[in-house]
Amino acid sequence: MLQMLQRCCCCFSGELGAKPRSKKSDDYPWENYTLKDLIHATNNFNNKNKLGEGGFGTVYFGQTSKGEEIAVKRLKAMTAKGEMEFAIEVEILGRVRHKNLLSLRGFYAGGDERLIVYDYMPNLSLISHLHGQRATNLLLDWPQRMKIAIGAAEGLAYLHHEASPHIIHRDIKASNVLLDANFNAKVADFGFAKLIPEGVSHLTTKVKGTLGYLAPEYAMWGKVSESCDVYSFGVLLLEIVSARKPIEKLPGGVKREIVNWVTPLVERGRWDHVADSRLGEKLDKAQLRNVVEVAMLCTDGKPENRPTMLEVVELLKSAVRDRRTKEVVLKDEDDGGIGEPSYSEKKSWKTSRMR
Ligand SMILES: Nc1ncnc2c1ncn2[C@@H]1O[C@H](COP(=O)(O)OP(=O)(O)OP(=O)(O)O)[C@@H](O)[C@H]1O
Ligand SMILES: [Mg+2]
Repeated sequence: MLQMLQRCCCCFSGELGAKPRSKKSDDYPWENYTLKDLIHATNNFNNKNKLGEGGFGTVYFGQTSKGEEIAVKRLKAMTAKGEMEFAIEVEILGRVRHKNLLSLRGFYAGGDERLIVYDYMPNLSLISHLHGQRATNLLLDWPQRMKIAIGAAEGLAYLHHEASPHIIHRDIKASNVLLDANFNAKVADFGFAKLIPEGVSHLTTKVKGTLGYLAPEYAMWGKVSESCDVYSFGVLLLEIVSARKPIEKLPGGVKREIVNWVTPLVERGRWDHVADSRLGEKLDKAQLRNVVEVAMLCTDGKPENRPTMLEVVELLKSAVRDRRTKEVVLKDEDDGGIGEPSYSEKKSWKTSRMR
Protein backbone atom coordinates (compact mmCIF):
# COMPACT_ATOMS: atom_id res chain seq x y z
CA MET A 1 0.00 0.00 0.00
CA LEU A 2 2.81 2.38 0.89
CA GLN A 3 4.52 1.58 -2.37
CA MET A 4 1.34 2.40 -4.17
CA LEU A 5 1.10 5.66 -2.27
CA GLN A 6 4.69 6.54 -3.15
CA ARG A 7 3.89 5.77 -6.77
CA CYS A 8 0.80 7.95 -6.55
CA CYS A 9 2.53 10.77 -4.75
CA CYS A 10 5.69 10.87 -6.80
CA CYS A 11 3.53 11.34 -9.88
CA PHE A 12 2.72 14.82 -8.82
CA SER A 13 4.88 16.00 -5.97
CA GLY A 14 8.42 17.28 -5.76
CA GLU A 15 10.73 15.96 -3.05
CA LEU A 16 13.07 18.34 -1.25
CA GLY A 17 16.19 18.63 -3.35
CA ALA A 18 14.69 16.71 -6.28
CA LYS A 19 15.44 17.97 -9.74
CA PRO A 20 12.76 20.41 -10.91
CA ARG A 21 10.53 18.87 -13.57
CA SER A 22 8.45 20.56 -16.22
CA LYS A 23 5.80 22.62 -14.45
CA LYS A 24 2.65 21.27 -16.09
CA SER A 25 1.67 18.57 -18.54
CA ASP A 26 -1.57 17.43 -20.13
CA ASP A 27 -1.49 14.29 -17.96
CA TYR A 28 -0.99 16.19 -14.70
CA PRO A 29 -2.50 19.66 -14.81
CA TRP A 30 -1.03 20.77 -11.47
CA GLU A 31 2.33 22.32 -10.74
CA ASN A 32 5.24 20.64 -9.02
CA TYR A 33 6.40 22.32 -5.86
CA THR A 34 9.34 21.29 -3.75
CA LEU A 35 9.14 21.52 0.02
CA LYS A 36 11.84 24.16 -0.25
CA ASP A 37 9.61 26.23 -2.60
CA LEU A 38 6.73 26.16 -0.14
CA ILE A 39 8.84 26.80 2.96
CA HIS A 40 10.29 29.81 1.18
CA ALA A 41 6.89 31.01 -0.07
CA THR A 42 5.26 30.90 3.37
CA ASN A 43 8.27 32.28 5.26
CA ASN A 44 8.68 28.87 6.93
CA PHE A 45 4.97 28.60 7.74
CA ASN A 46 5.20 31.79 9.70
CA ASN A 47 2.35 32.55 12.06
CA LYS A 48 2.04 35.97 10.41
CA ASN A 49 1.17 34.20 7.15
CA LYS A 50 -1.63 32.18 8.74
CA LEU A 51 -4.96 32.70 6.98
CA GLY A 52 -7.03 30.33 9.07
CA GLU A 53 -7.37 26.89 10.53
CA GLY A 54 -9.88 24.12 9.83
CA GLY A 55 -10.50 20.46 10.49
CA PHE A 56 -7.78 19.27 8.10
CA GLY A 57 -4.98 21.66 8.91
CA THR A 58 -3.75 25.24 8.78
CA VAL A 59 -3.83 27.55 5.75
CA TYR A 60 -0.93 29.95 5.06
CA PHE A 61 -0.50 32.80 2.61
CA GLY A 62 2.52 32.42 0.36
CA GLN A 63 4.33 34.11 -2.49
CA THR A 64 6.35 32.06 -4.96
CA SER A 65 9.73 33.17 -6.33
CA LYS A 66 7.82 34.16 -9.50
CA GLY A 67 5.67 36.49 -7.39
CA GLU A 68 2.47 34.38 -7.61
CA GLU A 69 0.23 34.55 -4.57
CA ILE A 70 -0.75 31.15 -3.21
CA ALA A 71 -2.54 29.62 -0.22
CA VAL A 72 -0.90 26.53 1.27
CA LYS A 73 -2.89 24.12 3.38
CA ARG A 74 -0.61 22.15 5.71
CA LEU A 75 -2.47 18.96 6.61
CA LYS A 76 -2.43 17.33 10.00
CA ALA A 77 -0.64 13.97 10.24
CA MET A 78 -2.49 11.10 8.56
CA THR A 79 -2.51 7.30 8.77
CA ALA A 80 -1.15 5.16 5.91
CA LYS A 81 -4.73 4.44 4.79
CA GLY A 82 -5.56 8.13 4.98
CA GLU A 83 -2.50 8.95 2.89
CA MET A 84 -3.55 6.48 0.23
CA GLU A 85 -7.00 8.04 0.07
CA PHE A 86 -5.39 11.49 0.01
CA ALA A 87 -3.31 10.56 -3.06
CA ILE A 88 -6.34 9.19 -4.93
CA GLU A 89 -8.45 12.16 -3.91
CA VAL A 90 -5.84 14.65 -5.09
CA GLU A 91 -5.51 12.74 -8.35
CA ILE A 92 -9.27 13.21 -8.95
CA LEU A 93 -9.62 16.71 -7.58
CA GLY A 94 -6.53 17.96 -9.38
CA ARG A 95 -8.35 17.39 -12.64
CA VAL A 96 -11.58 19.19 -11.74
CA ARG A 97 -11.73 22.60 -13.35
CA HIS A 98 -14.59 25.11 -13.21
CA LYS A 99 -14.74 28.91 -12.84
CA ASN A 100 -16.53 28.56 -9.49
CA LEU A 101 -14.33 25.89 -7.93
CA LEU A 102 -11.09 26.50 -6.11
CA SER A 103 -9.04 23.86 -7.88
CA LEU A 104 -5.80 22.42 -6.67
CA ARG A 105 -2.80 24.24 -8.04
CA GLY A 106 -0.42 21.58 -6.89
CA PHE A 107 0.78 19.81 -3.82
CA TYR A 108 3.71 18.31 -2.01
CA ALA A 109 3.75 14.93 -0.27
CA GLY A 110 6.99 13.77 1.26
CA GLY A 111 8.15 12.64 4.70
CA ASP A 112 5.59 13.83 7.24
CA GLU A 113 4.47 16.79 5.17
CA ARG A 114 1.25 16.93 3.14
CA LEU A 115 0.85 20.37 1.59
CA ILE A 116 -1.91 21.43 -0.79
CA VAL A 117 -1.46 24.55 -2.88
CA TYR A 118 -4.37 26.70 -4.08
CA ASP A 119 -4.70 30.13 -5.66
CA TYR A 120 -4.78 32.79 -2.97
CA MET A 121 -8.23 34.37 -2.72
CA PRO A 122 -7.74 38.03 -1.72
CA ASN A 123 -11.29 38.42 -0.42
CA LEU A 124 -10.97 35.34 1.78
CA SER A 125 -14.09 33.34 2.57
CA LEU A 126 -17.75 34.30 2.67
CA ILE A 127 -17.75 33.73 6.42
CA SER A 128 -15.45 36.70 7.02
CA HIS A 129 -17.90 38.96 5.13
CA LEU A 130 -21.06 37.68 6.74
CA HIS A 131 -19.91 37.23 10.33
CA GLY A 132 -16.22 38.11 10.58
CA GLN A 133 -13.90 41.11 10.54
CA ARG A 134 -14.94 42.32 7.10
CA ALA A 135 -18.65 42.16 7.86
CA THR A 136 -18.83 45.74 9.07
CA ASN A 137 -16.42 47.75 6.93
CA LEU A 138 -16.84 45.93 3.62
CA LEU A 139 -20.51 45.05 3.44
CA LEU A 140 -21.52 42.84 0.53
CA ASP A 141 -24.43 44.48 -1.26
CA TRP A 142 -27.44 42.61 -2.66
CA PRO A 143 -26.15 42.13 -6.26
CA GLN A 144 -22.79 40.91 -4.92
CA ARG A 145 -24.54 38.42 -2.66
CA MET A 146 -26.64 37.12 -5.55
CA LYS A 147 -23.60 36.80 -7.80
CA ILE A 148 -21.85 34.78 -5.08
CA ALA A 149 -24.92 32.57 -4.52
CA ILE A 150 -25.33 31.80 -8.23
CA GLY A 151 -21.59 31.20 -8.65
CA ALA A 152 -21.48 28.77 -5.72
CA ALA A 153 -24.58 26.99 -7.11
CA GLU A 154 -22.91 26.66 -10.52
CA GLY A 155 -19.75 25.21 -8.96
CA LEU A 156 -21.82 22.67 -7.05
CA ALA A 157 -23.94 21.81 -10.11
CA TYR A 158 -20.70 21.08 -11.98
CA LEU A 159 -19.51 18.74 -9.20
CA HIS A 160 -22.85 16.91 -9.14
CA HIS A 161 -23.61 16.68 -12.83
CA GLU A 162 -20.47 17.21 -14.92
CA ALA A 163 -17.40 16.14 -12.98
CA SER A 164 -16.29 12.58 -13.60
CA PRO A 165 -16.67 10.82 -11.25
CA HIS A 166 -19.50 12.92 -9.81
CA ILE A 167 -18.53 14.54 -6.54
CA ILE A 168 -20.68 15.16 -3.47
CA HIS A 169 -19.12 17.98 -1.49
CA ARG A 170 -20.57 17.09 1.96
CA ASP A 171 -19.26 20.27 3.57
CA ILE A 172 -20.95 23.22 1.91
CA LYS A 173 -20.68 26.17 4.29
CA ALA A 174 -19.67 29.82 4.31
CA SER A 175 -15.99 29.15 5.12
CA ASN A 176 -15.76 26.87 2.08
CA VAL A 177 -16.94 29.56 -0.34
CA LEU A 178 -13.91 31.71 -1.12
CA LEU A 179 -13.96 35.02 -2.97
CA ASP A 180 -11.51 36.19 -5.63
CA ALA A 181 -10.53 39.80 -6.28
CA ASN A 182 -13.83 40.41 -8.15
CA PHE A 183 -15.96 38.62 -5.56
CA ASN A 184 -16.50 35.59 -7.76
CA ALA A 185 -17.40 32.56 -5.64
CA LYS A 186 -14.98 29.64 -5.58
CA VAL A 187 -16.24 26.56 -3.76
CA ALA A 188 -13.36 24.97 -1.85
CA ASP A 189 -12.58 21.68 -0.12
CA PHE A 190 -14.81 19.49 -2.26
CA GLY A 191 -14.39 15.84 -1.55
CA PHE A 192 -12.07 16.11 1.40
CA ALA A 193 -14.78 15.41 3.99
CA LYS A 194 -14.73 11.73 3.13
CA LEU A 195 -11.01 11.54 3.89
CA ILE A 196 -11.63 11.78 7.60
CA PRO A 197 -11.48 8.26 9.01
CA GLU A 198 -14.22 7.37 11.48
CA GLY A 199 -13.36 7.82 15.12
CA VAL A 200 -10.69 10.47 14.55
CA SER A 201 -11.03 13.27 17.10
CA HIS A 202 -11.38 16.22 14.74
CA LEU A 203 -14.37 14.54 13.09
CA THR A 204 -16.37 15.33 16.22
CA THR A 205 -15.30 18.98 16.12
CA LYS A 206 -16.00 19.17 12.44
CA VAL A 207 -19.50 17.69 12.67
CA LYS A 208 -20.26 20.05 15.55
CA GLY A 209 -18.89 22.99 13.58
CA THR A 210 -21.09 22.35 10.55
CA LEU A 211 -24.13 20.89 12.25
CA GLY A 212 -26.46 23.65 11.09
CA TYR A 213 -25.83 22.73 7.45
CA LEU A 214 -26.56 19.02 7.65
CA ALA A 215 -29.58 17.56 5.88
CA PRO A 216 -31.81 15.72 8.41
CA GLU A 217 -31.43 12.32 6.69
CA TYR A 218 -27.64 12.72 6.75
CA ALA A 219 -27.51 13.91 10.35
CA MET A 220 -29.82 11.14 11.57
CA TRP A 221 -29.02 8.13 9.39
CA GLY A 222 -25.81 9.10 7.59
CA LYS A 223 -27.55 8.91 4.20
CA VAL A 224 -25.40 10.81 1.72
CA SER A 225 -26.55 11.93 -1.71
CA GLU A 226 -26.36 15.04 -3.89
CA SER A 227 -29.51 16.31 -2.19
CA CYS A 228 -27.55 16.62 1.10
CA ASP A 229 -25.45 19.27 -0.65
CA VAL A 230 -28.64 20.89 -1.95
CA TYR A 231 -29.91 21.15 1.65
CA SER A 232 -26.62 22.67 2.84
CA PHE A 233 -26.73 25.09 -0.08
CA GLY A 234 -30.24 26.16 0.99
CA VAL A 235 -28.92 26.92 4.49
CA LEU A 236 -26.03 28.85 2.95
CA LEU A 237 -28.49 30.83 0.81
CA LEU A 238 -30.47 31.84 3.90
CA GLU A 239 -27.19 32.80 5.57
CA ILE A 240 -26.18 34.96 2.58
CA VAL A 241 -29.54 36.73 2.56
CA SER A 242 -29.87 37.23 6.33
CA ALA A 243 -26.23 37.27 7.56
CA ARG A 244 -27.44 35.05 10.41
CA LYS A 245 -25.50 32.00 11.47
CA PRO A 246 -26.89 28.53 10.59
CA ILE A 247 -27.32 27.90 14.31
CA GLU A 248 -27.93 30.80 16.67
CA LYS A 249 -27.63 30.65 20.41
CA LEU A 250 -30.61 32.33 22.00
CA PRO A 251 -30.52 33.87 25.45
CA GLY A 252 -30.80 31.00 27.91
CA GLY A 253 -28.57 28.78 25.77
CA VAL A 254 -31.29 27.39 23.46
CA LYS A 255 -30.02 26.75 19.94
CA ARG A 256 -32.12 27.68 16.91
CA GLU A 257 -31.49 26.50 13.37
CA ILE A 258 -31.83 29.09 10.63
CA VAL A 259 -34.51 27.04 8.80
CA ASN A 260 -36.65 26.98 11.94
CA TRP A 261 -36.25 30.74 12.27
CA VAL A 262 -37.18 31.48 8.63
CA THR A 263 -40.10 29.05 8.19
CA PRO A 264 -42.69 30.97 10.30
CA LEU A 265 -41.59 34.26 8.70
CA VAL A 266 -42.12 32.80 5.22
CA GLU A 267 -45.49 31.38 6.21
CA ARG A 268 -46.58 34.85 7.39
CA GLY A 269 -45.14 36.53 4.27
CA ARG A 270 -42.69 38.57 6.36
CA TRP A 271 -39.92 38.51 3.74
CA ASP A 272 -38.42 41.79 4.96
CA HIS A 273 -37.67 40.24 8.33
CA VAL A 274 -35.53 37.57 6.71
CA ALA A 275 -33.16 40.04 5.04
CA ASP A 276 -29.94 41.38 6.57
CA SER A 277 -31.11 44.75 7.95
CA ARG A 278 -27.81 46.36 6.89
CA LEU A 279 -28.77 45.98 3.22
CA GLY A 280 -31.16 48.92 3.64
CA GLU A 281 -32.46 50.53 0.46
CA LYS A 282 -30.15 48.46 -1.73
CA LEU A 283 -32.23 45.38 -1.06
CA ASP A 284 -34.42 44.23 -3.96
CA LYS A 285 -37.51 42.98 -2.14
CA ALA A 286 -38.97 41.07 -5.06
CA GLN A 287 -35.74 39.23 -5.58
CA LEU A 288 -35.42 38.62 -1.85
CA ARG A 289 -38.75 36.82 -1.80
CA ASN A 290 -37.87 34.70 -4.84
CA VAL A 291 -34.48 33.76 -3.43
CA VAL A 292 -35.85 32.84 0.01
CA GLU A 293 -38.41 30.63 -1.75
CA VAL A 294 -35.58 28.81 -3.55
CA ALA A 295 -33.81 28.33 -0.20
CA MET A 296 -37.02 26.84 1.26
CA LEU A 297 -37.23 24.35 -1.61
CA CYS A 298 -33.59 23.36 -1.04
CA THR A 299 -34.13 22.82 2.68
CA ASP A 300 -37.24 20.66 2.31
CA GLY A 301 -37.14 17.91 4.95
CA LYS A 302 -37.63 15.23 2.28
CA PRO A 303 -34.62 14.80 -0.04
CA GLU A 304 -36.87 13.72 -2.93
CA ASN A 305 -38.67 17.09 -2.82
CA ARG A 306 -35.49 19.15 -3.15
CA PRO A 307 -34.48 20.48 -6.57
CA THR A 308 -31.25 19.34 -8.20
CA MET A 309 -28.38 21.85 -8.26
CA LEU A 310 -28.98 22.35 -12.00
CA GLU A 311 -32.56 23.35 -11.17
CA VAL A 312 -31.33 25.58 -8.34
CA VAL A 313 -29.05 27.46 -10.75
CA GLU A 314 -32.00 28.07 -13.09
CA LEU A 315 -34.36 29.03 -10.25
CA LEU A 316 -31.83 31.50 -8.84
CA LYS A 317 -31.10 33.05 -12.22
CA SER A 318 -34.79 33.61 -12.86
CA ALA A 319 -35.25 34.80 -9.26
CA VAL A 320 -32.82 37.67 -9.79
CA ARG A 321 -33.89 38.32 -13.38
CA ASP A 322 -37.37 39.05 -12.12
CA ARG A 323 -37.22 42.75 -11.27
CA ARG A 324 -40.80 43.71 -10.64
CA THR A 325 -41.67 47.39 -10.23
CA LYS A 326 -42.30 48.73 -6.76
CA GLU A 327 -46.04 49.03 -7.44
CA VAL A 328 -46.35 45.41 -8.46
CA VAL A 329 -44.34 44.30 -5.44
CA LEU A 330 -46.63 46.26 -3.12
CA LYS A 331 -49.71 44.85 -4.86
CA ASP A 332 -48.18 41.41 -4.51
CA GLU A 333 -47.81 41.80 -0.78
CA ASP A 334 -51.39 43.05 -0.47
CA ASP A 335 -53.19 40.42 -2.48
CA GLY A 336 -51.01 37.47 -1.65
CA GLY A 337 -48.94 37.28 -4.82
CA ILE A 338 -49.18 37.55 -8.59
CA GLY A 339 -46.72 37.09 -11.42
CA GLU A 340 -43.85 34.90 -10.23
CA PRO A 341 -45.15 31.59 -8.82
CA SER A 342 -45.30 31.48 -5.05
CA TYR A 343 -43.31 29.16 -2.81
CA SER A 344 -46.19 26.69 -2.56
CA GLU A 345 -46.77 26.83 -6.33
CA LYS A 346 -43.09 26.10 -6.95
CA LYS A 347 -43.25 23.29 -4.44
CA SER A 348 -46.17 21.64 -6.21
CA TRP A 349 -44.39 22.19 -9.53
CA LYS A 350 -41.43 20.33 -8.13
CA THR A 351 -43.53 17.59 -6.58
CA SER A 352 -45.45 17.00 -9.80
CA ARG A 353 -42.16 16.84 -11.72
CA MET A 354 -40.86 14.21 -9.34
CA ARG A 355 -43.77 11.84 -9.96
N1 LIG B 1 -7.22 29.79 -1.09
C1 LIG B 1 -7.43 30.55 -0.03
N2 LIG B 1 -7.25 31.88 -0.11
C2 LIG B 1 -7.47 32.67 0.97
N3 LIG B 1 -7.88 32.23 2.16
C3 LIG B 1 -8.09 30.92 2.30
C4 LIG B 1 -7.88 30.00 1.23
N4 LIG B 1 -8.18 28.75 1.66
C5 LIG B 1 -8.57 28.88 2.93
N5 LIG B 1 -8.51 30.18 3.33
C6 LIG B 1 -8.83 30.72 4.66
O1 LIG B 1 -8.46 29.77 5.63
C7 LIG B 1 -9.57 29.48 6.47
C8 LIG B 1 -9.47 28.04 6.93
O2 LIG B 1 -9.74 27.19 5.83
P1 LIG B 1 -9.94 25.64 6.03
O3 LIG B 1 -10.49 25.11 4.75
O4 LIG B 1 -8.68 25.03 6.53
O5 LIG B 1 -10.97 25.53 7.21
P2 LIG B 1 -12.54 25.69 7.26
O6 LIG B 1 -13.08 25.96 5.89
O7 LIG B 1 -12.87 26.67 8.31
O8 LIG B 1 -13.00 24.26 7.74
P3 LIG B 1 -12.91 22.88 6.93
O9 LIG B 1 -11.65 22.24 7.36
O10 LIG B 1 -14.09 22.15 7.34
O11 LIG B 1 -12.90 23.21 5.46
C9 LIG B 1 -10.81 29.82 5.64
O12 LIG B 1 -11.91 30.21 6.42
C10 LIG B 1 -10.33 30.96 4.78
O13 LIG B 1 -10.56 32.19 5.42
MG1 LIG C 1 -12.43 24.94 4.20
